[in-house]
This record gives sequence, structure tokens and C-alpha cells, in this order.
Amino acid sequence: MDLTKEDEGLEPVSPLGQYFNSKVMSVSILGILESEIPIDGSQAKSLIKDVFLPINPRFSSIMVMGKKGGKKWRKVEVKVENHVHVPSFSSPKGSSSSSENDSFLKSYIAEIAMQPFQQGQPLWEIHIINCPASEAQGTVIFKLHHALGDGYSLVGALLSCLQRADDPSLPVTFPSVNNFSSANKDDGKIVLRKVVSRCFLPLVNTIRDFGRSVLKSTCVEDDLSPIRCRSESFRPFSLSTITFSLHHIKEIKSRLRVTVNDVVTGIIFLATRLYMQRVSPNSNGSTNSTALVLLNTRNLRDYKSVGEMIQPNSKSPWGNYFAFLHVPVPKVKPGNSQFSDPSKFVRKTHEVIKRKRSSFGVVLTGMLLEMMKKCRNPEAVARHIYRTTRNSSMVISNVMGPMEKLSLANHPIKGMYFTIVGTPESLQVTMISYAENLRVVVRAEQGFIDSELYTRSLHDALDMILHDACGKQ
Ligand SMILES: *[C@@H]1O[C@H](CO)[C@@H](O)[C@H](O)[C@H]1NC(C)=O
Ligand SMILES: *[C@@H]1O[C@H](CO)[C@@H](O)[C@H](O)[C@H]1NC(C)=O
Ligand SMILES: *[C@@H]1O[C@H](CO)[C@@H](O)[C@H](O)[C@H]1NC(C)=O
Ligand SMILES: *[C@@H]1O[C@H](CO)[C@@H](O)[C@H](O)[C@H]1NC(C)=O
Ligand SMILES: *[C@@H]1O[C@H](CO)[C@@H](O)[C@H](O)[C@H]1NC(C)=O
Repeated sequence: MDLTKEDEGLEPVSPLGQYFNSKVMSVSILGILESEIPIDGSQAKSLIKDVFLPINPRFSSIMVMGKKGGKKWRKVEVKVENHVHVPSFSSPKGSSSSSENDSFLKSYIAEIAMQPFQQGQPLWEIHIINCPASEAQGTVIFKLHHALGDGYSLVGALLSCLQRADDPSLPVTFPSVNNFSSANKDDGKIVLRKVVSRCFLPLVNTIRDFGRSVLKSTCVEDDLSPIRCRSESFRPFSLSTITFSLHHIKEIKSRLRVTVNDVVTGIIFLATRLYMQRVSPNSNGSTNSTALVLLNTRNLRDYKSVGEMIQPNSKSPWGNYFAFLHVPVPKVKPGNSQFSDPSKFVRKTHEVIKRKRSSFGVVLTGMLLEMMKKCRNPEAVARHIYRTTRNSSMVISNVMGPMEKLSLANHPIKGMYFTIVGTPESLQVTMISYAENLRVVVRAEQGFIDSELYTRSLHDALDMILHDACGKQ
């Protein structure tokens, strides 16, 4: 293709967008909506044309190589029928049980996750599955390439297709960033104010985090463990989900005076150690295992409407804006009653995340990536990110969801969740809050991690911490 002339005026692909669609990695987000009623697919095409495509020009663009080497977005004609898939499921025996339907759904999701996008067309797909399963009468799966935007942009986009189930004319609201992810008032605004007011401490933390971040992704590698087998590439996985009551999480949060994010990360860490012990009772509870915790680096309180996000100079621009923190999974001492202090997992997580958030490390990691990109090329940075992920044990990411029940074209949405696919770690935990609940999704490498056992461990970890912190079963 000769692009030299038309190159000008095309929107460049953001750096992270380029990394996510490179030779070493092709990362996508699967967003899954569970409908309370069977899905009437007849409106799908018009909804996509009238509501979904106008959200962002990238949904009707492809990535092309620009004149000076950087990738650009170029608008193309979208053939909606190429992007919408409506598989049918019929069991060989005629009528099928709901567990058969559940496993059909799970393997369908796992299968589409493994298929690469065709680069000649815009990087999204929608799958409509009218197969009644235990959680829903019908399921809509959005497969969106991560190059299109981060979780924040993409969730914002999906939400702008939905309305409130109680009254479509009312606005959808979100937990405030402060309530959700920081105990500290100005924590959401990652560094600037802190740097001015508390210069010294952040500087020390920064050097340490920065050093560790660089080290982590250049020479230090996590130990092999029941959750890490050093996979070379993205492998087939199984998904399982569990629903926590936000009420319970908030109870623990106020008892321990930490953030919602600290509580759920602490639960995940305790579950991880429990899981390791359950799969191999002699396993070492002090393996060096770190989680990459993804952080949104935007400075904001709420989801901006998509219209606002794509304005030039918007404070919360559309795109990929996040950084990762390395957070060690707390160790358990061998011998003694191993899990006698479950709340420790939350308190410890709180300390580490607070220290790291109030440091410059996050920003510097971004600068490092930017420098690497300038000095070398996006492929080199992509390899760096890839190895960073590969040398850690797990990835944790969470996104704030709406506080009200929503509906999609008059289909009440019972539940929603997302997962990130295409990255090499064996274990990934993603979360989204919706109405009164927090949906936790475990993406576990097939044949290596027992995702059902891991979700049971999550369930037990919540119980243990709830009991310990609030005296409840
Ligand atoms: C499973 O799916 C099939 C086909 O979609 C449907 O006929 C059947 O009723 C479902 N089974 C249950 C228990 O919902
Ligand atoms: C945030 O927390 C404060 C105090 O705990 C509470 O009054 C407020 O309603 C919360 N806001 C949201 C959006 O949950
Ligand atoms: C990952 O760890 C291996 C082995 O320690 C090391 O050789 C490699 O450089 C590391 N990769 C990155 C990007 O850290
Ligand atoms: C666990 O690993 C540490 C560090 O390698 C070692 O000192 C310790 O003895 C090990 N514990 C067991 C029970 O294997
Ligand atoms: C974990 O890493 C530390 C240094 O970062 C090292 O001293 C320790 O031996 C490691 N533990 C194991 C079990 O490898």
C-alpha cells in the first residue's frame, strides 16, 4: 500500500496501543454481558451502526504503518456482518443441562480468545450467544483489541451503549475514585501534589520502585511455583468467575481502614497462598511471587462520557493510560499455623500499594518506556513489557463499574465481567464492580492451574478475612 501521501492528518496510534499490537503480543479485552432474557439479535446490526461505531473513530479504523515508521489509524468502510457472530449450540443428546451449557459458553470464550484478529479490518468483534446458562439467558461478548484503548476507555465505550434499567433517562453513576481505590484523599491524583508537599519520602520510594521495576524487567525473575511455570506464550486457558458482595468488602475496608482495592488485592493474595498449599501441600510458602497490579494513571473521579474523552485537551483522554506496579504476594512462614492472621494480607498489601502509589515510580516507568521507544522502537518496548509480564507470577487489574443495574436495548443486564487475553502470565485476576457486587474473574492456564480450585480459594479467603476482621462467618 502506498501511504506516503495520505499519511498526514491520520491519527497516530498511542505508544501503548502500538505495544499491544506488535509481533510479540496481541492483547485484547473480552467484555461479557449477561442478559436476564433471551437476546433478540434482530436489532444488533442497527445498534452497532447507530450506537457502537459512532462512539469512537477507531472502531471503524485499521492500523497502518505511517510514513515515518509510527503506526496510524486509517478509517475504512466497516462491514458489520464480518464482525458479528451468532453461534448456535445444540447438544448431541437433544436437551442439555445447564452445566453443559455453561461449559459450552466457557469453551466458546476460550476459543475466540485464541483467534487472532484479521488486521485488514477494524479490531473488534461481537458474539451473541443465545444459550441459556446458569448465570444468564443470553450472553453478549465484546472482543476488543487493547490497541483501541485501555479498560477505562473501553468500559466507558461499552457503558455508553447501555442505559439504566430503572429509568433510561437518568445518568449512570460510579463509585467515586476515592472510595474505591484510596484511603487517602488526594491519592487518586497520583503524584504531583504529593511531590510538592512531601518531597523527600517519595523520592526515596521512587528510586527503590524505579530500580525494582527496571530490575524486575531486566534480570530478576519470580520463582517457579504452582502459579508460575514460565510459559513462553499465551496459552489456552479456562475462565471461572466468582461474585463478592461489595457490602462485605466495604465492611472489611472500614474495619481495617484501608481501600476497597487493598481489600480485594489482599483477598487475592491470601487465596493465592491457600491455592499453592492446596495443590501441593509441601510447597514453599515463601516463594518470590509478584503480582503486576495495573493502575489507571488518569487523574479523575468518574468515567467521562466518551464525547468528553475524545475532545482535544480532555483531562481524561481516550487511549491507553495506565502503569503497572510490582506487588509481592506476602509470604507465609513454614511450620506454624500458616494462615493464622489472614488480615495481615490486606494490611501488608495496603502498605505496599500506598508506598508505591505515592512515589514517582509509576511515572518513571512510563518515562522509561517512552525513552526506550525513542531510542529503539515500539517492538523493543513490546518485548520489554512482554518479558516483564512473563517474569512475574500474576496480573491483577480492576475497573470500576456502574452502581445501577443497566440494560442493553431493553435487555436487563444481570452481570458483567471482563478479562484480558494475549499476555503470557499463567494466572490473571480481573475485577469489575456492578451494582452491589464485585465480579472476580480468574483466567488460568489450562492444564497447569486448576481454576475451580483457585476460585474456591478466593471464596475461602474472603470468608477468612471477613471472620478475622469483622468477626463474621
Ligand atoms: C441449553 O441450551 C440449549 C440450546 O440453546 C437449550 O435448548 C436448553 O434448554 C439449555 N438448557 C438449559 C438447562 O437451560
Ligand atoms: C464515599 O464515601 C463517603 C464516606 O464514606 C460516602 O458518604 C459517600 O456516599 C461515598 N460515595 C460513593 C459514591 O460511594
Ligand atoms: C526475565 O528473567 C530472565 C531470567 O532471570 C532474564 O534473563 C530476563 O532478562 C528477564 N527479562 C526481563 C525483561 O526482565
Ligand atoms: C523455602 O525457600 C527458602 C528460600 O529458598 C528456603 O530458605 C526454605 O528453606 C524453603 N522452605 C521449605 C519448606 O522448603
Ligand atoms: C527471593 O528473592 C530474594 C532477593 O530478592 C532472595 O534473597 C531470596 O532467596 C529469594 N527467595 C527464593 C525462595 O528464591
